[in-house]
Amino acid sequence: WTARDLAGIRILITAGPTREALDPVRFISNRSSGKMGYALAAAATAAGAEVTLVSGPVTLPVPAGVKHISVESAQDMYAATFQSIDNQDIFIGTAAVADYRPASVATQKMKKGQTDTDITLTLVRNPDILAAVAATQKVFTVGFAAETEHLLEHARQKLINKKINMIAANWVGVDRGFERDDNALTVLWSDGEIQLPYAPKATLAQQLIRVVIERYRQGNVE
Ligand code: PMT
Repeated sequence: WTARDLAGIRILITAGPTREALDPVRFISNRSSGKMGYALAAAATAAGAEVTLVSGPVTLPVPAGVKHISVESAQDMYAATFQSIDNQDIFIGTAAVADYRPASVATQKMKKGQTDTDITLTLVRNPDILAAVAATQKVFTVGFAAETEHLLEHARQKLINKKINMIAANWVGVDRGFERDDNALTVLWSDGEIQLPYAPKATLAQQLIRVVIERYRQGNVE
């Protein structure tokens, strides 16, 4: 690939975790480091694409040339995505978006009760950003599926339920997928799949961008 191969293609990528606040100092989150999403942003930019990266809180440097929008919660990520989605060609949802958030956020730091009683948290559903973007039918949509069991069945189900064009399935756990510098993906679409074996996330990102662009271009050619 040369630096001009993806010239004129606009890609919006979500990356990292979201934080769902309980009070001003506490939140619910997950182990996503943003490495996969940032590697995709770097690979797409290097190939000439115009990349917008909507990112939850991570400690990574923003790849040069990428438009970066920093968010905290799933609701923030949803709003930032929809503020930038017009005129995008491809959406890639790498972020580990919290499916639920606390039903209420305390304005002051929550205090321990006087007695030893436990407390119960009520969680409410967050909007599904990827499914909402797919429902607009205006961009080519690529999701990720992070699974601890039945990887391919669950990934295919997400491809169908969220009505997206492609999905990259990965095993996750305390020592897989999240946080590490390497990963492996099985990419699925309606009538095909391809295996991208264990490799550094930077390498995997280049491979995934190629596969996505190939499918995207086929879809846009009569
Ligand atoms: O960030 P790293 O440490 O490098 O780790 C990479 C990764 C493991 C986070 C990444 O490879 C990955 O799998 N990302 C997706 C994580 C995830 O939340 O998967 P899911 O199967 O729960 O969600 C399915 C898809 O729906 C994802 O594309 C997700 O971004 C999207 N989604 C989910 C919920 C929601 N409310 N909105 C969404 O858009």
